[in-house]
Amino acid sequence: MTGRERRKKVDRLTFLSAMAGGLVHEVKTPLSTMSVNLQLLKEEWENPETQKEMRTLKRVEILMREIQRLEDVVNDFLHFARGFSLEPVPSNINRLIQELVEFMNPEALRQKVRLSVFLDPGLPEVPLDWKYVQKALMNIIHNAFQALQDLDERAREVLIRTARRPDGIEVAITDTGPGIDPERREKIFQVFYTTKKDGTGMGLPVVRRIVEEHYGTVSLHSEVGKGTSFVLFFPFDEAEEGENRESPDNDRGVKKGTG
Ligand SMILES: Nc1ncnc2c1ncn2[C@@H]1O[C@H](COP(=O)(O)OP(=O)(O)OP(=O)(O)O)[C@@H](O)[C@H]1O
Ligand SMILES: [Mg+2]
Repeated sequence: MTGRERRKKVDRLTFLSAMAGGLVHEVKTPLSTMSVNLQLLKEEWENPETQKEMRTLKRVEILMREIQRLEDVVNDFLHFARGFSLEPVPSNINRLIQELVEFMNPEALRQKVRLSVFLDPGLPEVPLDWKYVQKALMNIIHNAFQALQDLDERAREVLIRTARRPDGIEVAITDTGPGIDPERREKIFQVFYTTKKDGTGMGLPVVRRIVEEHYGTVSLHSEVGKGTSFVLFFPFDEAEEGENRESPDNDRGVKKGTG
């Protein structure tokens, strides 16, 4: 590609992302009007007495749920179009995970999944935007919970493990679910690829995007019938790398995963 062609492509992408951002904004306003009005409608039918009233309430609830779904998709899409504005701060990822696990424990209980953590106590800090990294982890954990639903309750396990690497830190989320066959392993990161009735296919693309915005990588290990691990790698902040690095003697040269 020549310099001129490349500039043209960049211009086109900038234009498209501005347009997508604008479109999403236009869609969001009517969606929120619909949502508010449906909420009011629902309140009016709060105590249905006849069959007809019950049916109406049910339909209003379906509409509300679908609108919520649209709002979620549109928000994810907006993130893609505009890019994320990350505000990373030096963090110990163990603390971020503990906070997230506390938040997700009730759901794990409801879904009858054993959610456990194994945190490396000697982790150095890496720059993380908590809100986004928690969102990425949450998307992966949600997928794991969903993947476990066809299993016997006793076999439903999710483990979150952290570990230090020579050039950064690693988080692995492992489930005991059905696994992902090799043909689907790249597809699952594509926007709108889903195998679920109610799925959108935005979860993993958002994960990859968030991790890459942190200069990290996502890799996947899966064995059909056994389970799946998503491994996120976050590198040290280059400016502070000197302070964080272990001495070369301790550097065992563990290779980082690739996406
Ligand atoms: N832990 C897992 N085990 C098995 N399959 C998985 C796992 N995680 C993801 N997948 C597969 O990858 C697909 C894409 O996942 P992704 O999170 O991007 O979208 P989704 O979960 O289908 O929809 P949503 O937008 O609601 O997250 C899933 O539909 C599922 O087929
Ligand atoms: Mg998902």
